[in-house]
Amino acid sequence: MAYETIVVETADHVCLIRLNRPDALNALNGQLIGELAEAVGEADGDKNVRCIILTGSEKAFAAGADISEMADKDFVDVFMGDMFGSQIDRILACRKPIIAAVSGYALGGGCELAMMCDFIIAADTAKFGQPEINLGVIAGIGGTQRLTHFVGKSKAMDMHLTGRFMDAEEAERSGLVSRVVPAKKLMDEAMSAAQKIAEKSALTVKAAKEAVNRAYELPLREGLLFERRLFHGLFATEDQKEGMKAFLEKREPQFRDK
Ligand code: HXC
Repeated sequence: MAYETIVVETADHVCLIRLNRPDALNALNGQLIGELAEAVGEADGDKNVRCIILTGSEKAFAAGADISEMADKDFVDVFMGDMFGSQIDRILACRKPIIAAVSGYALGGGCELAMMCDFIIAADTAKFGQPEINLGVIAGIGGTQRLTHFVGKSKAMDMHLTGRFMDAEEAERSGLVSRVVPAKKLMDEAMSAAQKIAEKSALTVKAAKEAVNRAYELPLREGLLFERRLFHGLFATEDQKEGMKAFLEKREPQFRDK
């Protein structure tokens, strides 16, 4: 499908989705979010794709929801339209891993979008923030919840109430991002992480993503039971037999996603 606000390239089992509204620092408008949801859905259904990378430009991952598109909306507009709700649900329904590769600004909805991904690799130029408070609103696609889970209440409150930005070093220290690399190496690092994932059993990768995500959604006791049952279930797969046999035979496993 031809997109206007994103660029999608698939090679070596990795689907790279680049947000592409350079004149607006990749601000998220209805068209971009619609196209992104479509592209993620397509990648999720494409047998050839084993991992997805979501990125922006050097200057901005995304500087938030498009303020010019939101400014004149009233309550009924946003309530009835549910601003990005169904598209976000589609992105969150993706069962394949999505890595966010963040360079420059990841603000407001941009920060929220990065946090919806499975993990974030940041360039040393990255700046994260929830500055909605300066616009007379608050985060609307998960920022108050996810940022608080990732960095704790004190820092999340600080970010949401003052609107200040967090640099990459602070973001790594606080648990918001998994790694920080020099800006020039960002895409290589993201690609090599994606390739690593692509080499695993797709079946086990799905199980791991489902189980880790339950840590955010279920009480500990239920999450542990969910994990344990998935773990047990993996012993019904050929990939478990192959993975363990390969280890004992001191060779690389040949996974068949079965
Ligand atoms: C629309 C935006 C934009 C945005 C930047 N632009 N952010 N347009 N929506 N969120 C546009 C600018 O208007 C400008 O267009 C061009 O991008 C370059 O931006 P500048 O401001 O000139 O760049 P710079 O001086 O480098 O400042 C970068 C910046 C600043 C610090 C990132 O642009 C900024 O503060 N942006 C807004 C960040 C923000 O408040 N985000 C939260 C949005 S609310 P022109 O045409 O003038 O060149 C949100 C809610 C989510 O995200 C909830 C969703 C349901």
